Amino acid sequence: MPPDEFIVTPWHVEGDIDYDKLIKQFGTEKITDSILKKIERTTGEIHFMLRRGVFFSHRDLGRLLDEYEKGKKFFLYTGRGPSGHTHIGHLVPWVFAKWLQEKFDTNIYFQLTDDEKFFAKQDLTLEQTRNFAYENALDFIALGFKPEKTKIIINTKNIKTLYPIAAEVAKKINFSNTKAVFGFTNETNIGMIFYTSLQSAPCFIEDRPVLIPLGVDQDPHFRITRDVAPRIGKPKPALIHNIMIPSLSGPGGKMSASDESGTVYTTDSPETVKKKINKYAFSGGQPTVEEHRKMGGNPDIDVSYQYLRIFFEPDDQKLKTIHDDYKSGKLLTGELKAILIEKVNSFLKVHQERREKAKSQIDRFLFEDR
Ligand code: TRP
Repeated sequence: MPPDEFIVTPWHVEGDIDYDKLIKQFGTEKITDSILKKIERTTGEIHFMLRRGVFFSHRDLGRLLDEYEKGKKFFLYTGRGPSGHTHIGHLVPWVFAKWLQEKFDTNIYFQLTDDEKFFAKQDLTLEQTRNFAYENALDFIALGFKPEKTKIIINTKNIKTLYPIAAEVAKKINFSNTKAVFGFTNETNIGMIFYTSLQSAPCFIEDRPVLIPLGVDQDPHFRITRDVAPRIGKPKPALIHNIMIPSLSGPGGKMSASDESGTVYTTDSPETVKKKINKYAFSGGQPTVEEHRKMGGNPDIDVSYQYLRIFFEPDDQKLKTIHDDYKSGKLLTGELKAILIEKVNSFLKVHQERREKAKSQIDRFLFEDR
């Protein structure tokens, strides 16, 4: 793929993404200072992921916030396709969602699409995707969502609740819509063709507007949902998009749960984390120490630096010092990696303990069909 080209769809991300171009392509809106000010008015702070452009784009967020200020509450919804264990890139929208839940005091629904991943991946059985759904649920719970305000939906389990809503949506989508949006062909299995209506269903599970924090690759589904919403008498979902998290081995393409070496899983041991980062994390440094000291590194393409920026170093001052020292050549690649390894491992130590505890709490979080 030529360096200035990229592809972003729910099932395929490739190339070096130009996010301003993507905003134009998708027809979303950039998160502006005025949106940030509105958020700050209600929440009292601007989350570092907003400040740093990790969440960079939205649909209808301004309207949703205006209505919230007038007393109209909303709920939150996000999800995960359980094709493997959770990796640290997945946690980005979830951690942000938890912040939103606290600040806006909302309910949240988390959809685990075991059917979708079964349809999309040749080599996965439904039993495997369902098992991963439970595994992924533990990671979600471990982040500290309030049990009384949080419900986890598993598609094959909660189909009784989802199906009537999905049916309303499905009737308003025709084959040429989905074909145009997702590039389906005559060989695409029909589970995939119906699937968008199931991902749409949780948007309408409560009788109030929804806000969806999500990776921008998922936007095409909700573009369809937003077209359908007024035609079934429902409010259009509002969206807030995060950038794709680079895989360890470098920019271009998102971190994929099926690419072992390029991925740090939430279940990895401290030794594994250390090995993976030292061996695979793409470096923006120079080939030799002398050259690095002279010319400095490039934090913009350095994956270790990017992980600190996106997730692991919320303190702006500390991040800036790392940035400047790396750029000037004072900080070497190995030293930068050591900082990241320490951060990831101390995060995972706590996370893995909470994940163990989540095993006995999971029933309180699972959505019950009525
Ligand atoms: N299709 C998403 C994935 O593959 C899972 C998902 C379901 C989702 N509902 C969602 C993601 C809502 C974001 C928001 O990961």
